[in-house]
Amino acid sequence: MHILITGAAGFIGFHLSKLLLERGFSVVGVDSLTDYYDVNLKQARLDQLKGQAQFQFHKLDICDFDKLKALFIEHKFDYVVHLAAQVGVRYSLENPQAYIQTNLVGFGNMLELTRAYPPKHFVYASSSSVYGNQTEHAFLETDNTDHPVSHSVFNIGNSKAVQLLDFIQAIEKAAGKKAILNKSPMQAGDVTNTYADVSALQSATDYEPTTDVLTGVEQFVKWYQSFYL
Ligand SMILES: NC(=O)c1ccc[n+]([C@@H]2O[C@H](COP(=O)([O-])OP(=O)(O)OC[C@H]3O[C@@H](n4cnc5c(N)ncnc54)[C@H](O)[C@@H]3O)[C@@H](O)[C@H]2O)c1
Repeated sequence: MHILITGAAGFIGFHLSKLLLERGFSVVGVDSLTDYYDVNLKQARLDQLKGQAQFQFHKLDICDFDKLKALFIEHKFDYVVHLAAQVGVRYSLENPQAYIQTNLVGFGNMLELTRAYPPKHFVYASSSSVYGNQTEHAFLETDNTDHPVSHSVFNIGNSKAVQLLDFIQAIEKAAGKKAILNKSPMQAGDVTNTYADVSALQSATDYEPTTDVLTGVEQFVKWYQSFYL
């Protein structure tokens, strides 16, 4: 059984690697050995693992897609445990790039590669920080994670649904031309409905949109024609 553990020199990654090796599994560890905390400690953990025949280590940044891909192709992992992360909250104020790179770009790379070279199972660790300032009860997996500590979230959008064919008719009317319709099935990623409750934005800012769709489309078509035609 071939298992990839990212963040293998980290606190959880090291202990998990050790346990799995003790149980006879083969472990490929990946870590870039960031200096967020003592690198000697990470190295000392690795030294313990490196003595074992079933352990292989790659010093690799998960943001490096090509190197990570080569590893997935070479090993054909049965299981992937993704623990490489830029952890901590306070440091994110000082060095947001570290979080953007590892937790967004690197995590995206892991998702893409497990999609392309699917293991039997993919596990990753998140953080209690995703729940933000949610204080009503102990965190539940089903809780919303939209309670950020430092900014509010507002919907900005049309609060009434507009049928696609009505929208096309509005463009036809404004352009003075009949559309040539090439009807296709629902496209991957499309949703059946999008319209927004904007009452939170209205009560916070007193802003109320006044342009209806017909007027907006008419103005857009005028602009489009003056810019492109
Ligand atoms: N330890 C906890 O109590 C705890 C609690 C909740 C969640 N978690 C989550 O578990 C995961 C592991 O936590 P941990 O305590 O072992 O953290 P850790 O910092 O000890 O380990 C993370 C490892 O990832 C490595 N790493 C960072 N960026 C990398 C990159 N771009 N490429 C490759 N390696 C990189 C680091 O060098 C480090 O060794 C994290 O996602 C963390 O949020 C941990």
